[in-house]
Amino acid sequence: MQVIRDINKLRELRRSWQSAREVIAFVPTMGNLHKGHLRLVEHAKRNASKVVVSIFVNPLQFGPDEDLDAYPRTLDADQQSLSKLGVDVLFMPSAQDIYPSGLEQQTFVEVPGLSYMICGASRPGHFRGVATIVCKLFNMVQPNQAFFGEKDFQQLQVIKAMVSDLSMNLSIHGVPTERESDGLAMSSRNHYLSAEQRRVAPTLYALICKMADEIKAGRRDFSVMVSDLKSKLVKAGLKPDYIEVRDSHSLLQVGHEDKDLVILAAAFLGKTRLIDNVQIRI
Ligand code: PAF
Repeated sequence: MQVIRDINKLRELRRSWQSAREVIAFVPTMGNLHKGHLRLVEHAKRNASKVVVSIFVNPLQFGPDEDLDAYPRTLDADQQSLSKLGVDVLFMPSAQDIYPSGLEQQTFVEVPGLSYMICGASRPGHFRGVATIVCKLFNMVQPNQAFFGEKDFQQLQVIKAMVSDLSMNLSIHGVPTERESDGLAMSSRNHYLSAEQRRVAPTLYALICKMADEIKAGRRDFSVMVSDLKSKLVKAGLKPDYIEVRDSHSLLQVGHEDKDLVILAAAFLGKTRLIDNVQIRI
């Protein structure tokens, strides 16, 4: 596996791959890789002849009170895991190379609508930061395909919309969420949980699965269901941020006749914010 930090070097290699007609898959990450990330890489490997993974902790997507400085960085272990999986290139640009004029002067990409609702309302500017870095990385790597986890369901929809709206020439693939044996969605932020919080954390997924089953069985009083679920979260020691039943493509509010739904959930456990989702096809 080649480790490349320099954008021009990456572009040079990309040109040689282009001449050899290689199919290039890309997995952007912020590092601290867990099984969920490695699953994305496995999907990428199955679909392409060359795989590029990036590690860049993107300051533009963190709010002023969020965990940019504390975000776990485990480069040696990440490098080993990626090398074992047969990744061709690990791209690790510096913040200086990505944002040479600083964050204030950076041109940005914003997907309207989708970026402002749900998670975007709780984390203003977050999806602008995500869309901007993903667009920049796409311009550098120029992949044919890119792979993202469905755990960050709204992020996946924002990226799909950006690719479509800006006529970008690549396909976006969502990969199902990787879970611990008790159902907790794998996340780099799970490391922040104390032993007691870790015991409670799977409650979020268990409750949204139960709600999904009730919807599949015909229940449609979504607002009552959401407020019941929130009370149960509070009882279990979680502080709900949002619980939403939305259309799984537009993420807009749903009516009783809609058939492609997603329950999107976020809740705090101490300072750690857990997110999860369940898709429902009726
Ligand atoms: O999902 C993530 O890890 C990040 O949001 C991403 C897509 C790598 C952009 O920084």
